[in-house]
Amino acid sequence: MEKIIIGGGKRLCGEVNISGAKNAAVAVIPAAILADDVCRIENVPNIMDVQIMVKIMKSLGVTVKNINKNTLEIDPRPINSYHVPAEMANLLRASYYFIGALLGKFGKAHVFMPGGCNLGVRPIDQHIKGFEALSVNVNIDNATIIASADRLLGGPVYFDMSTVGGTINVILAAVKARGLTVIENAAKEPHIVDLANFLNLMGADIRGAGTDIIKIHGVDSLKGCTYSIIPDQIEAGTYMVAAAATNGDVLVKNVTPKHLESISAKLIECGATVENYDDSVRVTGNGRPLKCNIKTMPHPGFPTDMQPQFAVLLSIAEGTGIVTESIFENRFRYTDQLIRMGAQIKVEGKTAVFEGISELKGAPIKADDLRAGSAMLIAGLAARGETEISEINHIDRGYEDVVTKFKALGANIKRSEFKDFKQVKNVG
Ligand code: EPZ
Repeated sequence: MEKIIIGGGKRLCGEVNISGAKNAAVAVIPAAILADDVCRIENVPNIMDVQIMVKIMKSLGVTVKNINKNTLEIDPRPINSYHVPAEMANLLRASYYFIGALLGKFGKAHVFMPGGCNLGVRPIDQHIKGFEALSVNVNIDNATIIASADRLLGGPVYFDMSTVGGTINVILAAVKARGLTVIENAAKEPHIVDLANFLNLMGADIRGAGTDIIKIHGVDSLKGCTYSIIPDQIEAGTYMVAAAATNGDVLVKNVTPKHLESISAKLIECGATVENYDDSVRVTGNGRPLKCNIKTMPHPGFPTDMQPQFAVLLSIAEGTGIVTESIFENRFRYTDQLIRMGAQIKVEGKTAVFEGISELKGAPIKADDLRAGSAMLIAGLAARGETEISEINHIDRGYEDVVTKFKALGANIKRSEFKDFKQVKNVG
């Protein structure tokens, strides 16, 4: 079993290059099915979730070539199936985007229920409501979503809550439907705009992405194109918080500062200095963080995917900070791991209260899910002493070359193979 070992207490200094956005890539890749020709996707993060999406594409008969580490060439013309089986679908949440893409392509989709981080119930009722608004029949049989339509017809979709996945899935199904689809209460995350830009480059007619009303005029066909994925706002935010938590000085490069506004604002509230440049931000820690209160909201509010990372800052801040998680029911499991490091945290339902302590102590901890895992990295980097993180497969799902990137910033960090509690070898 691989673990990450961190010798904490070192200031992070230097530059880090941010990869393409995971949550954009896992939507753009299945969207390429809708093209009648080859698509070249650049700035794709080399992470486990992308590798799984590519594997699912290939299982459908699609040709996917790795032009280089971060560039895919996708030829959907040989596609010969609309089935995504359990063994692949339940490896990640984004597998459900194949429902919208396959409906858009064939008017049919048989996709097993998705997996993904355990953050609460995570139903897909809004996705189904959206598909049914497009004249799609949807049944769930033996945990498989069976969706079909003689002809997808555009229609009005009103989401009961802001749903990233629901918005993306309806866009994928609607781009080739006959007539106009209007999505109201649409999610506005940057990756939704990225998907719409990709599809419009292929010849789709999507207007209003990034606002809460998206209008889609169905088109008959979509051509191939070359497209570059936007930078990952959450990976960037993770390195920004790590800089502040270690009292460091880090230039975070290849970012879109506009996507980081809520993260930068909270870092400044916590006492860090944040300087914005065209495609980079510089974060400098100024001693022990100050406390602040955080409430997660849909974009452009504070992103729920940055909540665990900021919790580390609040754990060592001066004073008492409060975090309110308004998106998911169960996103505080990681606090048990921070408490093992000495943090003083009280969780009551959707609220967690952090009584800041002067420093965390290194300890053996685990990654509960993807973003919790990134928070454990930050905690280990900020703590005094050695931290050993297990279940790091969660981290590798969404962070490209994470050990290499932190090592280049001066962190004392490495991967180690462990078998039966005996260390086998350091793998760098
Ligand atoms: C996406 O998940 C992201 N995943 C999540 O990032 C992110 O936390 C989330 O959006 C919010 O920004 C991907 O993009 C692959 P939602 P998704 O639909 O689409 C409820 C990460 O770490 N809901 O916006 O599943 C749902 O339970 C991951 O990169 C319904 O009730 O999120 C949640 O409480 C973690 N019914 C809320 O809405 C539905 O049909 C928001 O969920 C759909 C959602």
